[in-house]
Amino acid sequence: MNIKEMQDEIMRIKKEKDICILAHAYQSHDIWEVADYVGDSFGLAQRAAEAPQKTMIMCGVRFMAETVKLLSPEKTVYLPEPDAGCPMADQIDYDLLAALREKNPGYTVVAYVNTTTEVKTLSDVCVTSSSAVKIVKNMPEKDILFIPDCNLGDWVSKQIPDKTFKLLSGGCPTHARMSAEDVKKAKAAHPNALFLVHPECKPEVVELADYVGSTTGIMNYAKESDAKEFIIGTENSIVTHLQMECPDKMFYPLSKDCVCHNMKATTLTDVLNCCKGIGGLEINLDEDTRTKAKHCIDEMIRLG
Ligand code: 13P
Ligand code: SF4
Repeated sequence: MNIKEMQDEIMRIKKEKDICILAHAYQSHDIWEVADYVGDSFGLAQRAAEAPQKTMIMCGVRFMAETVKLLSPEKTVYLPEPDAGCPMADQIDYDLLAALREKNPGYTVVAYVNTTTEVKTLSDVCVTSSSAVKIVKNMPEKDILFIPDCNLGDWVSKQIPDKTFKLLSGGCPTHARMSAEDVKKAKAAHPNALFLVHPECKPEVVELADYVGSTTGIMNYAKESDAKEFIIGTENSIVTHLQMECPDKMFYPLSKDCVCHNMKATTLTDVLNCCKGIGGLEINLDEDTRTKAKHCIDEMIRLG
């Protein structure tokens, strides 16, 4: 089977079995083309809550599939590649967060959505990169323990100077790989390009940007801008997607190294096998854990 035949088969089964395919923006283009919805973490969380289908296939990493299940317990949710995890989400577990809460009484725990379900059960509110600033501003609490990404936390804290932030030393290994030196080199090579960056990058990289935002934010900015050239400081699939969508503009990766192998673990074959019912992992959460964890997602939706 070639790619087109596989995609046609996925589309056929999807219709027959009433399946909804959600894809994070870092998935490859062949997966984008069969998805009902492509977006950033916040968009996926919203879409998961609204989709009418009973079966959801979440092309991304495990915490994303768990978030879909948190919001739609009555639906059957699959992660097409069972081993697709997020190293950042694995940096903090329940026991570590429990110890941090004990050490920091009076602090409100704001958890990046890139966390495990167990960690969410102990968190007060969840945020995504596109909703974090708005949500923390809207919260009445002043003392914030932001977990686990210190780069996103730093960026949020700079925009809300009247609140106190405690940050951890966690973060995304893919985005943290990029340096201010990479920015200097890319700007020297493309002096007319605007530099768009994800807030998971280090503060010294973010500081040099013309625009900071989530994956969808970066894509929308590039599409709507009158500028013709862009240096993209996020996972390199966004460079490919933008280049395909805007052939009259030029997109350059900040670094060829900005590839998340976890996001790339899912292939079109995995999606097809999952549709056929011969692959993928069904996500199941026990009801007590789910209800406790859902609270911080509900707070995210209420405040965002
Ligand atoms: P967003 O989808 O919120 O931009 O997050 C990027 C990311 O690293 C997802 O794993
Ligand atoms: Fe996790 Fe970073 Fe990969 Fe996103 S890009 S899944 S945060 S490792």
